[in-house]
Amino acid sequence: MTTAPTTDRRPIALDFPRLLTGSGPGYDEHLRTLGPLPDHRGLIEEVERSGLTGRGGAGFPTARKLSAMTPRGVVIANGSEGEPLSAKDEWLLRQRPHLVIDGMLATARATDAKQLHLVVGPASEAAARQAVGERRDARGIEVTVTQERFVSGEASAVVHLLTSGDALPTDHTVRLTTRGLRRKPTLVQNVETLAHIGVIARFGAAAFRSVGHPADPGTRLFSITGDVQHPGVTEAEGGTPLRSVIGVASPRSVAGVLVGGYHGTWVGREALERPLALPTMPGAIPAGAGILMVIGEGTCGVRTTAEIAEYLAAESAGQCGPCVNGLPALAELVARLAHGDRNHGLVGEVERMLTLVDGRGACHHPDGTARIVRSAMRTFAADIEAHRHGHCLAAR
Ligand SMILES: Cc1cc2nc3c(=O)[nH]c(=O)nc-3n(C[C@H](O)[C@H](O)[C@H](O)COP(=O)(O)O)c2cc1C
Ligand code: SF4
Repeated sequence: MTTAPTTDRRPIALDFPRLLTGSGPGYDEHLRTLGPLPDHRGLIEEVERSGLTGRGGAGFPTARKLSAMTPRGVVIANGSEGEPLSAKDEWLLRQRPHLVIDGMLATARATDAKQLHLVVGPASEAAARQAVGERRDARGIEVTVTQERFVSGEASAVVHLLTSGDALPTDHTVRLTTRGLRRKPTLVQNVETLAHIGVIARFGAAAFRSVGHPADPGTRLFSITGDVQHPGVTEAEGGTPLRSVIGVASPRSVAGVLVGGYHGTWVGREALERPLALPTMPGAIPAGAGILMVIGEGTCGVRTTAEIAEYLAAESAGQCGPCVNGLPALAELVARLAHGDRNHGLVGEVERMLTLVDGRGACHHPDGTARIVRSAMRTFAADIEAHRHGHCLAAR
């Protein structure tokens, strides 16, 4: 997908710079627009008041993670973006790298961390190195390029990359904030989350909360792709209806939307007025890492899910039972649904396999794969039934 921002068509008007607005990638312009990063005291309390939650997918309250850190730890900015449908982290690192660096420096100061790592995908390496090289206060930041695979951005995989050079998840029973990189307390935070911290450190919690919904304050970035005329990255307030967010990308038609990427949830047209937000907001569709893939009326959701399930099965770290045995079997069953297998028991077999993989891995890869397949079974139930009778609703 192209990563051209759809800034000119954003559905929100903001009275101070957020992520898509404000300065360009250079440090001089960043300083001219925003001024130097204040030496913010009480940042953790300010982040708590802001209600900021992680933008890497799970939506965990950021202040709780910051409070769990003990001194002399490690801050890792996670710009791995292993998800193929996501473009926001690359966009941020190429266009607003100094906001991410501000967030890293402010977080390290607030938690008394002594090591800083910025982990990026290959496409963001040059921009990240250039930005770090531009400022004296960023000299301690080490930039590491990760491998392009789906699970490379999982928090333990990011830590493993820095110790062994291999971005694969590891089985860890103790929280990373207690014992992470080389046994030190380690904070892994998505680069967008850190960019929001850069905003909060300057403008404060009240300003951050001045847009969005009380249950999902502030803004979030969305990567929009699929059957749309203007794929790209946009920024919207927490709680904005799905229809408004995808509207900026001009969908050709909407038969369904995959919200949250390959580990996300399919919804149908009837969900277009629902807000994209944290799952705690009533009626919300969980926004996750802000990935939206639209499928139009000519695209079969069951086939699309079968392709994604096959990809996810091949992308596991191949270490745990549910990934080694379960995901390939699940992908095979979904492929049979997609290609018109008339077996009555197939839907039941898929459901049985979902219970066998869900929650059984060392990381959440099997759970995320189960989530997208389960949502496809619900959202495309009529399509699955049509396939069993030798038709495809998308082909009419
Ligand atoms: C399979 C898998 C892949 C993930 N990929 C990413 C990723 O590419 N980038 C990211 O920031 N978080 C990713 N996460 C989430 C991280 O484990 C972690 O929760 C996140 O980086 C924490 O940052 P946050 O609290 O700011 O969201 C992934 C999780 C899983 C289970
Ligand atoms: S659950 Fe899968 S992806 Fe996660 S660590 Fe185990 S084998 Fe790797």
